[in-house]
Amino acid sequence: MRILVTGAAGFMGSHLVDALVGLNQHEVFAVDDMSGGYKSNINPKSQFAKLDLRDKKKVWEYIAHVKPEILYHLAADATEGRSQFTPISASERNFLAYMYTLVPCIKNGIKRVVLTSSMSVYGAQKPPFSENMRRDPEDVYGITKTAMEEATEVLGKVHNFEFVIIRPHNVYGPKQNLSDPYRNVIGIFINCLLNNKNFYIYGKGEQKRSFTYIDDFTPYILKAGFLKEADKEIINIGPSKEYTINQLSDVVLRIFFRKRSVPERLKPKYLPDRPQEVKDAYCTNEKAEKILGYKTTVELEEGVRRMIDWAKKMGPQKFNYLKDGLELETKDVPETWKKRLI
Ligand SMILES: NC(=O)c1ccc[n+]([C@@H]2O[C@H](COP(=O)([O-])OP(=O)(O)OC[C@H]3O[C@@H](n4cnc5c(N)ncnc54)[C@H](O)[C@@H]3O)[C@@H](O)[C@H]2O)c1
Repeated sequence: MRILVTGAAGFMGSHLVDALVGLNQHEVFAVDDMSGGYKSNINPKSQFAKLDLRDKKKVWEYIAHVKPEILYHLAADATEGRSQFTPISASERNFLAYMYTLVPCIKNGIKRVVLTSSMSVYGAQKPPFSENMRRDPEDVYGITKTAMEEATEVLGKVHNFEFVIIRPHNVYGPKQNLSDPYRNVIGIFINCLLNNKNFYIYGKGEQKRSFTYIDDFTPYILKAGFLKEADKEIINIGPSKEYTINQLSDVVLRIFFRKRSVPERLKPKYLPDRPQEVKDAYCTNEKAEKILGYKTTVELEEGVRRMIDWAKKMGPQKFNYLKDGLELETKDVPETWKKRLI
């Protein structure tokens, strides 16, 4: 098969490309504009192109040339908490870039699309979230993912291609961008400690989430590209066990400092809630178990240990704030970004 993976230098996209290349059965095309990914994440056995999916004309030409049969779409501006302050970037990099990719794919005979969506589409409904709940996003990122899901369903029906919508749940692990100050809570906590700084927790830290180690994600998104039973399904991927952010913080600190006690100045500090942050967000995974054979194999402690081992090898990274600032620099911008605290 001719397979195209977008966001291929990013965290989850690069793991997926590695797994697809490892099958040794397919031609794997990979694109990324390098706005978020690492160069070292690019698999040299994939056919990589640096391409900004917001460039409609170039994307059209590229896809007419590649003619993918399967599209795994992972490219995104995935900064959910920031999307209230960068709504244009979220719309362009998520919905618009997806349309610029999907439409030529349809024109050129795509057979199946695997769209990486998000738990954010459930919004503030009562967890655990199951796939039959309505879409009711609370933030701009969730709105773009909702629109992407709905457009996929409509276009799939009208133009007759197969599709699978994946809603991953806080995925973490090696190769994740540690220098992003706007997202990836585990990566931010670890990178602050590597930089010999405390990290910050928004609100009381009692928000509940569950966390998926990357090895418990990649095999299942891969399968979603091929399994007949997955066609036209929406599937949550992630463990069913949830943790509060305070519990996560304890796990990270305990593993980072091993047997040493945590120095007073490196203990977390608390800040006001972020605007529109959903308090509790975790999901059911029975559908993933049934259709994709999902199993949680790496529990949080073990996953964090593996990520910290990798991050310590990477060493401290400088946090990269947006060069031109946020689109909406208002009084409600969270303090860590406004004052560049981390
Ligand atoms: N990591 C998570 O916990 C999580 C949870 C839910 C959903 N998701 C979704 O999964 C997907 C992958 O997330 P990730 O954590 O690997 O993020 P990531 O930031 O590591 O990867 C996304 C990649 O997309 C690329 N990209 C952004 N805009 C682009 C453009 N215009 N053209 C080409 N490439 C572009 C970036 O350079 C980056 O490498 C995203 O769609 C995200 O919304 C992630």
